[in-house]
Amino acid sequence: MRIDVVTIFPEYLEPLNVSLVGKARARGRLDVHVHDLRDWTYDRHNTVDDTPYGGGPGMVMKTGPWGDALDETLADGFEAGAHSPVLVVPTPSGRPFTQELAVELSERPWLIFTPARYEGIDRRVMDEYATRMPVVEVSIGDYVLAGGEAAVLVITEAVARLLPGVLGNAESHRDDSFAPGAMADLLEGPVFTKPPEWRGSGMTAVSLSGLHWMLGRRGRDEAFRRTAVNRPDLIERCEASAFDKKDREILSILGWSPEPGGRFWRRPEDMEQ
Ligand code: ADE
Repeated sequence: MRIDVVTIFPEYLEPLNVSLVGKARARGRLDVHVHDLRDWTYDRHNTVDDTPYGGGPGMVMKTGPWGDALDETLADGFEAGAHSPVLVVPTPSGRPFTQELAVELSERPWLIFTPARYEGIDRRVMDEYATRMPVVEVSIGDYVLAGGEAAVLVITEAVARLLPGVLGNAESHRDDSFAPGAMADLLEGPVFTKPPEWRGSGMTAVSLSGLHWMLGRRGRDEAFRRTAVNRPDLIERCEASAFDKKDREILSILGWSPEPGGRFWRRPEDMEQ
């Protein structure tokens, strides 16, 4: 996979040299190119922004530098043999970034990220490139960052670990929380390692059996407990048919009941506990 990032803070992308993404690059699974947007400015101050039409606070990133930067980045990539680019535009008003979207992006051969600063990029830039390639606006959460670079790091890491040959064990992301088709979309349960006894807290014989515990009933109960507390919305959106008899028992202990519509819901008073 080829990744291009156009940014006014190339140094912000340094973590792409480290750990999993760094190794994926070293192994030739990822070909990353970081570009400085200011290389496509032609005035003394390397201006990339201007005041917004219609007034309002903040500045807007100008069409000129983005258009020139993207044209040259695309030309370079095509020349190097890349194809089928997707423009990924981090913005708090984008499509929520989920494991499903990470899988979708991991199947594309070429991602071009356009992390913005200030109030964002002049809309005409995205509209113009959308006539030539898919443009995906992506939000990594309901909060506002100072710029899209941190979102690029998040998206790249989630995508890179899905590429064949990047994780040691090819199967290891199949059971991730949120993996499409993961068991009833539950969060992963807790994990343990040696020593077996720590500050008076020991491991049970069953949990010492490791993976069997995680994939067995106790592990699933723990996953339910964790999901019910941290992400009740995941249980609410499951079809009741996704739950077996034991699941229903633990859900009932946790305060959930089936409703006629076929889903489970939880009495509001139990939420307080
Ligand atoms: N830029 C600023 N905030 C962002 C967010 N939440 N997601 C993606 N890009 C952003």
